[in-house]
This record gives sequence, C-alpha cells and structure tokens, in this order.
Amino acid sequence: MSPNSFLLPGLLVLLALGQCRCQQLPLVASDSDDWDLRTPPNPNTTGHLVFDTVSSLLVHWPNTNYHNGHTIVPGTIPTGMLLYHGRNDPDAPTAREWVSTDPEFARLFCVEPTDCWLLTVVTTRPLRILYFDGSSATKMPDGPMDSQDLLIWGEVLPERATPEWEYERLHNLCDNFEFDGILRMQLNFELMLCSFTDGVTTQSLVRLEDEERFPHYAYGFLDSSRWNDDFPGLSRIHLDLTRLISLYDTSLAPSLIPFRYGKSRRAHRVLGIDDRDTQAVLASVRALSSTHPPGSGIDWRNMFQSIRDRYAIRLEVLHDVLAEDDSSMQQRAFRIIQMLLLPYRLHNAVPSSSDSADEMWAAPVFRLCAAAHTSFAESDSVRAKFTASEHLLLAAVRETHKEICRTLVGMWADGVVYNTASKSTSDETELVRRWRREVQRLMEWLGWSEWVKCRPACVFPESCYYPGAPFSMEEWNSTTPRCVRLFEPYAGIPEEYIIDSI
Ligand SMILES: *[C@@H]1O[C@H](CO)[C@@H](O)[C@H](O)[C@H]1NC(C)=O
Ligand SMILES: *[C@@H]1O[C@H](CO)[C@@H](O)[C@H](O)[C@H]1NC(C)=O
Repeated sequence: MSPNSFLLPGLLVLLALGQCRCQQLPLVASDSDDWDLRTPPNPNTTGHLVFDTVSSLLVHWPNTNYHNGHTIVPGTIPTGMLLYHGRNDPDAPTAREWVSTDPEFARLFCVEPTDCWLLTVVTTRPLRILYFDGSSATKMPDGPMDSQDLLIWGEVLPERATPEWEYERLHNLCDNFEFDGILRMQLNFELMLCSFTDGVTTQSLVRLEDEERFPHYAYGFLDSSRWNDDFPGLSRIHLDLTRLISLYDTSLAPSLIPFRYGKSRRAHRVLGIDDRDTQAVLASVRALSSTHPPGSGIDWRNMFQSIRDRYAIRLEVLHDVLAEDDSSMQQRAFRIIQMLLLPYRLHNAVPSSSDSADEMWAAPVFRLCAAAHTSFAESDSVRAKFTASEHLLLAAVRETHKEICRTLVGMWADGVVYNTASKSTSDETELVRRWRREVQRLMEWLGWSEWVKCRPACVFPESCYYPGAPFSMEEWNSTTPRCVRLFEPYAGIPEEYIIDSI
C-alpha cells in the first residue's frame, strides 16, 4: 500500500458514521454488574493493559519491560527546552534530523571518538509531537516498531526495522502528519525533528574533547536513562491523554484480539491487524490535528498513579510474606490484606453463621472498593464532557481496580471466615495456598514493572540495569535486570555488544 492511500476521504466518512464492529468487549461494567467474587475477568479484556501502558508513558523501565508499544499519543514540548544533536562534523543540520533529550545520548551519535561536535538547540515555541510508547526507536523486527509502521507504511513491515529505513520513516511521518516531531525511546528518548529552522534555534555548536567510545560515555548514556526509570519519567514533555490512541482498545482494533489470545504480554504485537482496523487507527491519528473538545479536566495520569501507589508495594510485600515459612505468617498476611482494604471494610459486613460458603455478605465491600476511584467520573454530567479517549481511560481504571478489589476482598472474606470458624492446620494450609495463588495471579495480570527489579538489590556503586537495546542486543528478550558497575572496574555490559544498530 502506498503511504498516501490512507488519505481516502470516503473512508473517513465511513468511520465517522461509526461502523459497528460488534466485537467490542464490555470494558465498562454496568449496574447489572456481577458482584460474584469468584468470576475472573474475560481473558480477552484489555482494561488492565490500557491502564498499565497509559500510566507507564514516558517512563523508561516499563517500556523496556514491554518493548512492543501499543499507544500513540500527542503531546507538547514547551518553549525553552534544550535538545541535542551529536555528529562528527560541524555541519549543523538544516533539514530533518534526530535530536535527543539528553546530551549523553547525542554523544553516541559521534560515531568516531574524535571530531565530535555537539549541537544544542532550544525550542522557541511549543512543539507538537507524537509519541510512540515501548522501545520504539529500536530497530528490531520483533515488534517495537509495529505501531509506527502502521502510520508510515499503512501496514506492519518487520523487514524494514533497520537503520536504512530510518530517513524514510522520518520523512513519511513529517510529510503525512501535522506534527513538529516524533518522540521515541530506546534506553533514553529521541525526537525525530521535522525542521531545524521552524520552532527551534541554535544555542551552541561546540567541538567536544576527544574521548574513548567505550566504556566511558556509553556509561554516561546508560546513566542518563536511569533518570527516567520510574514515574513520572520524562516529565519535561507533556502528553495529552484526552486524545490518546491505544491499540489495546478493542473497539478500535478488534482484529488484534485473536493474536493476543494465549500469548504472554511481551509477545503482544500490532502485527496481524487487519486493513479495516488500520484505517480506523489512521483516521484517529489524522483527527488529532483538528480542533477538539477540552475533555473533563480529570487528571488521569495522577489518578492512575494513585492506584499504583496504593497497591504496588503492598502487593509485593504480601507476596513475599506469603512465601515465608513461619507460623505467624498467616496472621501477618491477613493484616496486610486488611490494610489494603482499609477504606472499604464495612462495619456491618460480617459472614452469616449458617452458610460459610455464601460470600454475599462481602459483596458491599467489593462494590465500595470497585467504585472508589471512578464514581465521580462515571456520573452523567462528567461523562458528557468526555473525549473518546477518556471513555477508554475510565474503562481501563474501572476494570483494573475492580479486579484488584475482587481478588483482595475474596482473600479477605476467606480470612474472616477462617478466623471466626474453628481453625485447623489443614484449613490454614489450604487458605495460605489459595492466597498465594490469588496474589500471584493478580500480580501477573496487572504486569506492573515495579515488580521487575534486581534481586538481591544492587549495592553502591552498582546500579540495576535492564538488558536490551541498544546494548546487550543478544539479551533482547531478557526479563531479568542485573546489577552493573558504573565506575571502574566496569562490569555488566560486554564490550562487544556495544551499539551497532542505533
Ligand atoms: C477470546 O478470544 C479468542 C480468540 O478470538 C476466542 O477464541 C475466545 O472465545 C475468546 N474468549 C472469550 C471468553 O470471549
Ligand atoms: C524474542 O522472542 C520472540 C518471541 O518469543 C522471538 O520470536 C524472537 O526471535 C526473539 N528475539 C531475539 C532477538 O532473540
């Protein structure tokens, strides 16, 4: 397909009329919701995936953990922000080129250790950018470039995930979409800038001291990536979540559902998307340039983060406590469960003595917990102001928090019944086994990168490093971060792995 064939106006009309894809999953629960504590989520729902990807935007660690991005989101680089470009000659670019958000990354683009010139530009007005999440600057056919492929070629072409196609990507995105630049990540962030004369001005162009390529400044680059490891990540750039597009949106891209089915999250790709969904995605991206309503005003990013804050550390502690072999472990675990549900444990929620298998007594606790973060957003007057993306965000947070609540309330109800009944050792063993299984399942379902860490923790002067592009390409699929030394004697990154594909 030619890059321009997705401009067809007739198609936009079709999409505007809202063709029924009729495969949409019920992301948002209705009043007739099932409050049964034993019904797990449909395996094809994606609310938790939208939740995790959206709350991980511009953060380094989760986008290395899941390198295949699924989110396309517009944003703004504010006036006065510095951007960097490194090269082996003093010829400052006048046309489209790459810049980075930190000079340590730009330094790598001086391919020779000598004659390294660093150009620093500064934005003179807000730049409109489009961000692709995941490790989207990594030239690998395994999926990190899938979502940009859709916009550039109109289909996923893994064989073009090579440096040779990079200028064509840049020109295509700049020519066909109304943005000043395209933001991508591999360890650190880079911007494909559509113009070096409009929106930026030169601040300095200097020749840097000659220095060895390895290991010194590569480590500087590695070090710079750590600044964005955790929330809020690269907060200098402001994303507009009210206009976000997600390929996990099952009403936008239902053709991807069967491709994800039964696969681990790391294997999720955009490869396989059908032509109809591709056109719908392209139409959504084009619509980003038109005027748009302001939306509800809800700060989604921080709403999502407040939920991660409430659960991330304590779920891990609960998981670790349950792994202990200790006679008072059950009581400690139960206390953590109680703490996690503190605002929802109603005074009058007590089990009926007649039937210990009936869990209806706990349903009000489940309902209160599940609605806690979203009841305001779900009111008709607020929803009336929603953009299309905000409906997706609401569904994501509701579905995710509901499952957290279902799991924890189920565990808590088990504990309450156990503690009020005659406690036997075999009951306790069974209870702890169920708790372990449930916490494990919930954490796997959520897939939060807070739980991917160096174990045991690194000791100064080591730092925890997630192998991946552009170093350690042979460990591309690794899910195990490890400690590396950022000072002599350097350790952790074999020299031969260093950059041949940036
Ligand atoms: C999930 O999707 C797969 C693949 O499309 C389908 O076979 C399966 O029936 C779906 N499962 C449910 C519970 O909807
Ligand atoms: C990574 O894993 C995927 C899926 O398991 C596989 O197809 C791919 O070849 C692997 N890539 C590398 C570089 O090992």
